[in-house]
Amino acid sequence: MEETLKGKAAVVTGASGGIGEATVRALVHRGAAVVLAARAEEKVRFLEREVVAAGGQALAVKTDVMDRTSVQTMVEQTMEEFGSLDILVNNAGLGLSGRVAELRPGDIRYLFEVNMVGPLHCVQAALPHMPRGGRIINVSSVVGKRAIPKVGGYCATKFALNAISDALRVEVADRGITVTSIYPGTTRTAFREHSRRTKDEERGWRPRGVSPEKVAGKIACAAERGGRDVYITLADRLFVTGTILLPGLTDWALRLLMKD
Ligand SMILES: NC(=O)c1ccc[n+]([C@@H]2O[C@H](COP(=O)([O-])OP(=O)(O)OC[C@H]3O[C@@H](n4cnc5c(N)ncnc54)[C@H](OP(=O)(O)O)[C@@H]3O)[C@@H](O)[C@H]2O)c1
Repeated sequence: MEETLKGKAAVVTGASGGIGEATVRALVHRGAAVVLAARAEEKVRFLEREVVAAGGQALAVKTDVMDRTSVQTMVEQTMEEFGSLDILVNNAGLGLSGRVAELRPGDIRYLFEVNMVGPLHCVQAALPHMPRGGRIINVSSVVGKRAIPKVGGYCATKFALNAISDALRVEVADRGITVTSIYPGTTRTAFREHSRRTKDEERGWRPRGVSPEKVAGKIACAAERGGRDVYITLADRLFVTGTILLPGLTDWALRLLMKD
């Protein structure tokens, strides 16, 4: 593969597994130097060693995106090690299941801290260092476009993230920095096992999903070319378009699909 990102430094949050880990590999494959940011230090150090052993450039930095100081330190280490920060992938995220009527305020606050305030910390720490041509890539979700039952709290955090992305895109356009929202549908990671639960709720029907590598490929394309809204599959794009055009029919279909 052509090293289209050679000379670029990228930060990937949530690099300890799932979509983040696959994104690290995809960016390294394209020649980028990558900072692996997550709380699970052992896992990111393991991945760092693997990348470096294969001739790539990587730096593992234990980071909690909820903690502004931790994020600031991670960005400082990025600058010390690689001298620039060209690409920020805000991928770290957490799920929450539960009916709206039963959600606990503490869970919702925690989720907003990880899924919305976390990316905000990273953007605010990275922007002063980001040159023209910089890329900010925020990993949202198709359910950040149309909320679905039993995960309404999680959906709300992704709607909020989209709002940040849309405002920021316009604010930094004059600096030549792009802001991309990625909207994966179900992806085969440990996301559901890691998700918080309100009760012992079952999730009902859901699609089999795509591989994290497929999502990572789209993120890497956004790192190369920018872009505004990125869907992973045609079905995801059609789902979102359909829900916008036919909201009432969508409510009806969701009632059928997500019945207990
Ligand atoms: N899987 C899906 O079906 C799906 C669909 C649409 C969107 N997404 C989104 O895709 C992103 C990645 O999810 P995934 O599927 O790869 O799930 P995952 O395997 O559970 O990975 C989540 C990552 O987020 C990190 N993380 C969580 N809290 C963090 C914190 N406070 N600070 C730093 N890192 C933190 C975790 O690392 P540590 O625990 O080591 O910190 C982990 O690396 C999320 O934003 C998710 O909302 C997933």
